[in-house]
Amino acid sequence: MFLSSVIIMVFILVCYWLLTKRPMDFPPGPKFLPIVGNINILKHIKILKFHHLLWHNLSKLYGPVVGLKFFHKYVVIVSSKEAIKEVYTRDELNGRPDGFFFRIRTFEKRLGVVFTDGHFWENQRRFSATTLKHLGVGKFGMVKHIEHEAEELVSELMRKSEVCDVFPMHSAFDVSVLNLMWVLLKGERFELDDQKLIDLVAAVHKNFQVLDMSGGILNLFPAIRYLMPEQCGYKELVDTMKPIWSFLADEIEIIKENYDPALEPKCFIEAYIKEMSKLHDQDNFFSDEQLFGICIDFFQAGSETTANSLGFAILYMLHYPKVMRRVQVEIMSIVGANKLPKLNDRPKLKYTDAVISEVQRCANIAPLGIAHRAVKNAHLNGFLIPKDATILCNLYSLNMDDKNWKKPAEFMPERFLNDDGDLIFPDYFIPFAMGKRRCLGENVAKSSLFLFFASIVHSFDIKCVGELPDLLGIDGISLAPKPFKVKLWRRF
Ligand code: HEM
Repeated sequence: MFLSSVIIMVFILVCYWLLTKRPMDFPPGPKFLPIVGNINILKHIKILKFHHLLWHNLSKLYGPVVGLKFFHKYVVIVSSKEAIKEVYTRDELNGRPDGFFFRIRTFEKRLGVVFTDGHFWENQRRFSATTLKHLGVGKFGMVKHIEHEAEELVSELMRKSEVCDVFPMHSAFDVSVLNLMWVLLKGERFELDDQKLIDLVAAVHKNFQVLDMSGGILNLFPAIRYLMPEQCGYKELVDTMKPIWSFLADEIEIIKENYDPALEPKCFIEAYIKEMSKLHDQDNFFSDEQLFGICIDFFQAGSETTANSLGFAILYMLHYPKVMRRVQVEIMSIVGANKLPKLNDRPKLKYTDAVISEVQRCANIAPLGIAHRAVKNAHLNGFLIPKDATILCNLYSLNMDDKNWKKPAEFMPERFLNDDGDLIFPDYFIPFAMGKRRCLGENVAKSSLFLFFASIVHSFDIKCVGELPDLLGIDGISLAPKPFKVKLWRRF
């Protein structure tokens, strides 16, 4: 009897030790519980409200590289500038996580550019980057579109400010920004009051707030969607994807019907259709489904981040009216009244540019970038990052680190200007990440952030009506500003 009790006790202790053991050299972090690992720490998100704050707090406790386990899945949180730079620049840490959650968007297959890796990703990213260049991104072609879209936005806001006394401003940029994606993908734009596009934007917004960069419970146990589709987030995720799927499927079909192979492609989708029709000697990664995947990537990665940054930029101006005034004075002195700023005014509008950078730093629109994956066992800061571990680079920690920034919690656009008034960007200011995975739309994003923001602040005096929300925003893959309403007065 005694012996069997001892054997059972020893067995239980060995099981406990095996189930809670950290792999050798795995980064420090909270103790694993048997089977579930660290799933218990997610309860803190209810209080903290933001995923990145939980990861930030853990890095303060355990250091710049923290190791966690959610059931069978290892997750590593990286927070210091040195370690984040390493993740972004080392091939073995530049993969993307895979699994059901990341495939829901694309026929449950691994497609697109954002959530693929290896040879497939390299091939498709290269094609996407080259095609964007041919379509004029970073050159006159795209400049013209962005300037036109900014003019249309100002006219629409002038019209709105005459007919409605007060209207929501956090979402005022949504359709204009999606139009820029659509000009690239289809070569066309929508009218700003087009209900089809307004509904589509609302779906993209909601979709981003349902997503959790680590993949969440759905990625760990995809079968859970049959048992509790609502509680695990599956139903909402699919419901918010449906309008995006059906919009793109209809539009791609129309483009295919009208595509003339004898003409030069005038948009990304036509360029892709042309490439699909070519014979490829080796691996042919071009397919209808992959085209669909890249379009979804552009919609999701491009529109939400840019529109939210602009919403935050106006909210910051309402919190810091003196800064807004100084931006207006600078633009007036360079551009003058009755004219909108142009992209070639940008090199002279240095304070305005510094304000946008400071909004990006403080608002942390993409606080965790996009999750990475270790494609093989690798070491970081002396710790083992096991193959297939998900790696989250906490850009929020980087932006709020007082070793990098003087008074990081304060909104001080001057930090990006030197004594001569020239712009200075430290190498750890990386809102678009860095390395081979750096944002594919950085050029379009920077130009549109600048021009939309400068055009609105130059054209209007803006006052918040009702409660001015805090600057923390709403959690999601991309942080969104809390809703706010404004009254606009034309300045000219
Ligand atoms: C203010 C606006 C934007 C911000 C702050 C932003 C930020 C980022 C960040 C942080 C990454 C992740 C890099 C990583 O962690 O691996 C990323 C990737 C990406 N972004 Fe953006 N982005 C913005 C706008 C855009 C636009 C306008 C487009 C499309 C034209 C775009 C397309 C992409 C794509 C396709 C990727 C994935 C690249 C890859 O995996 O190879 N982004 N972006």
